[in-house]
Amino acid sequence: MIDNKKVLFSGMQATGTLTIGNYLGALKNWVALSEEYECFYSVVDLHSITVRQDPAELRKRARALLTLYIAAGLDPKKNCIYYQSHVSGHAELSWILNCFTYMGELNRMTQFKDKSAKHADNINAGLFTYPVLMAADILLYQTDVVPVGIDQMQHLEITRDIAQRFNAIYGDVFTIPEPYIGKVGAKIMSLQDPVKKMSKSDENPNASVYLMDDPDTIMRKFKRAVTDSLATIRYTEEQPGIRNLIDIYSACTGKTPAEVEKEFDGKGYGDFKSAVGEAVVSVLKPVQERFYELEKDKTFIDSIIKENAEKANYFATKTLRKVQKKVGFPEKIR
Ligand code: TYM
Repeated sequence: MIDNKKVLFSGMQATGTLTIGNYLGALKNWVALSEEYECFYSVVDLHSITVRQDPAELRKRARALLTLYIAAGLDPKKNCIYYQSHVSGHAELSWILNCFTYMGELNRMTQFKDKSAKHADNINAGLFTYPVLMAADILLYQTDVVPVGIDQMQHLEITRDIAQRFNAIYGDVFTIPEPYIGKVGAKIMSLQDPVKKMSKSDENPNASVYLMDDPDTIMRKFKRAVTDSLATIRYTEEQPGIRNLIDIYSACTGKTPAEVEKEFDGKGYGDFKSAVGEAVVSVLKPVQERFYELEKDKTFIDSIIKENAEKANYFATKTLRKVQKKVGFPEKIR
């Protein structure tokens, strides 16, 4: 609790360009929850270097992502929007938690298996202990709730396990966080292969709609979206392509899948795809416009980066001191 408010933490990687999966599965919910909670939203650049990055490009993307958080509607005066690398407590707590995490647990992580298959030439220890750093992110702020897409659930579970294990040894040190998964949009699928998650790192640009895509590109990608030959708009497992489009439309319009089925009853796939494209364009347009405005205001963004790093450091240090004392590190002489 901070000022009688429960704490919310979430983060995104500045690797690649954000997709509507990131937006509908996470960022949109962050905005909706931001009034109710004391929020920490991190640009998790420490996580990004688990795969090789071009330094200049990483710096540029991280700043764009931080700006995008604000453009999406998060008030940076009320929400702590900051770079993970500006708060050394993340790495310090991560080390301590490494010593309370089992190899066997980390071996079971599906993201590690997927990423090591993809980056077979660089299966580094950071990639393996990635979930521990994520646990540190969350536990450092005594977080109550973590809004994420479904793909992060396994990491949330291991975070809870680590926290419970630590608390069982040392007493009530960490708040046990709960995941928050949105009702719609928690798993947006690829437009080209709708049984696969839409991902920033997909090599096929038509598979993902990016947050900064212009309207023509968005409409074109939806027109090309893979569907089926059943010619009926139904929300079923047998029609993963159509189901995904219904999810996207629902997340953008607030309508339930049943309402969407009704709205498009008897209509063709062409009409439906255009409607989905238009719904996405109208959600993204204001975000893009704000982004381009904000990006120009270097002084404002710099001041947010500075102020919020200080705020995050203040809360992170509180938890870190407590943990260091519990595990037996000597107190610093001041
Ligand atoms: P990342 O950067 O891969 O994704 C950011 C958020 O977007 C969600 N997401 C999706 N939601 C729905 N459909 C999709 N196709 C889709 N793709 C991505 C993710 O679930 C996530 O919520 N490890 C995390 C970042 C992280 C973090 C944390 C998150 C680091 N520390 C602490 C929460 C708490 C990641 O790589 O997310």
